[in-house]
Amino acid sequence: MTEIRTSPSATSGPLVSLDPDSSTAKHVQLEAAIRDAIRGGRLLRGQQLPSTRQFAADLGLSRGVVVEAYQQLTAEGYLTSRGGGYTTVAADRAPPSPAPPTPRALPRIDLLYGRPDVSRFPRAAWLRSMRTVLTKAPHDRFSYLEGYGAPELRSALANYLNRVRGTWAPADNVVVTSGFAQAWSLIVRVLAAAGVRTFAVEDPSFEDVRPIAAGAGLTVVGIGVDDEGIDVRALVASAADAVLVTPSHQLTGAVLSAPRRAALVRWAQQRNAIIVEDDYDSEYRYDQVAIGSLQGLAPDQVVYAGSASKTLAPGLRLGWLIAPNRLVGAVAAAKLDADRGSPVIDQLAFADFLETGAFDRHLRTMRPLYHARRDALLAALAARLPELRPVGISAGLHLMVWLPTDLDEQAVVTEAARRGLGINGLAPHRIAAADRGALILGFAKENERAIADGVDVLAAAINEVRRTRGTE
Ligand SMILES: Cc1ncc(COP(=O)(O)O)c(C=O)c1O
Repeated sequence: MTEIRTSPSATSGPLVSLDPDSSTAKHVQLEAAIRDAIRGGRLLRGQQLPSTRQFAADLGLSRGVVVEAYQQLTAEGYLTSRGGGYTTVAADRAPPSPAPPTPRALPRIDLLYGRPDVSRFPRAAWLRSMRTVLTKAPHDRFSYLEGYGAPELRSALANYLNRVRGTWAPADNVVVTSGFAQAWSLIVRVLAAAGVRTFAVEDPSFEDVRPIAAGAGLTVVGIGVDDEGIDVRALVASAADAVLVTPSHQLTGAVLSAPRRAALVRWAQQRNAIIVEDDYDSEYRYDQVAIGSLQGLAPDQVVYAGSASKTLAPGLRLGWLIAPNRLVGAVAAAKLDADRGSPVIDQLAFADFLETGAFDRHLRTMRPLYHARRDALLAALAARLPELRPVGISAGLHLMVWLPTDLDEQAVVTEAARRGLGINGLAPHRIAAADRGALILGFAKENERAIADGVDVLAAAINEVRRTRGTE
């Protein structure tokens, strides 16, 4: 290691440490060292560097190495050369950047909201679809595509959704997105540009949706939800010209009732408003027959959104929209603008996966598995925590329990987390304040045994919260 200081008065530590054994070129090492010294504040703006000749001699390098480093850093704006051959520092120290957030540790028992069992991802079947795609797809499929997505996937999705979800969609109305998250960003941008001003969302609703709508310049209003789903009367009374709903399985577990569905569609048709139907959790239904999509009832008023995050894996980032004729072009243009399209090989693999029936088979495997896990959670709650009455149990991957009024939601969630149990409170998803806490309990990720253990931990956490408050 060769160490050198520019001038004893200018720096208190070594400016340059070159490693003679490193495979990194000397000029690159020198550049990095000078850059670091400037960013770290050891070399200050205006300060003069040694001449190339002097520096090279001190370091035992050829002068050309130092010249190259100075030229590169001059091009990058870190150095400037003055008349007379002087080189001085031209940049300021970098402002201290906050430490990157540490990744959240996974809880020992994970009953968090929205976590499917990704260990059941159908790897072998997906691999078969991947192999088919890589063998058979024409070369031009791997080029830039239109914002709508791969034609094969748009058509496979239209076939699947029309058959299974009762949508009414030609493939032309389908746009492939990077999950629901992106679908929502595209929709709010497009609707804001089309003149929508006030967007209603269910209260409570998934907390991530509101800032995205507000970011697009929309006013967001919350509309209450009861055990029949969104309160359509309150929606009618509001100023909203669009609404986001989760009719198949609301965060509170509610499924939108038939009269409310009819009333919602009437509202949209009379006001010429848009319903965004997030068909979340529609694939999992335990004690009721599946209810068709709203989009099938009013294709001109509904933007339908779906995602493979809960059926296959969130990491796939595969989602889709069915948009009415008057909006679909703008949605595809916004998608192109956002990221030039979703990864095409995954799109084609998913198309094959749908068309070959592998998706149906996968769901047929997962439904009884999740059903059994839901039953295990209900049984454990009945045995260990009968005071917590579960609601919204007929569909999806989570249920909800109201907390007795003496229990603070955040205190229970925090104490459970301290004991290694991941659960969610409802409060972050609420818009209006409420006098009663609730917990959302996911049952998809863990097996029956772990679910029972999780409920034991929850019972212990609740005891602890009560003990420390002296209410027991
Ligand atoms: C209400 C709701 N819709 C959709 C999704 C799926 O989101 P994404 O497709 O971006 O993973 C989630 C995920 O948790 C959700 O909570």
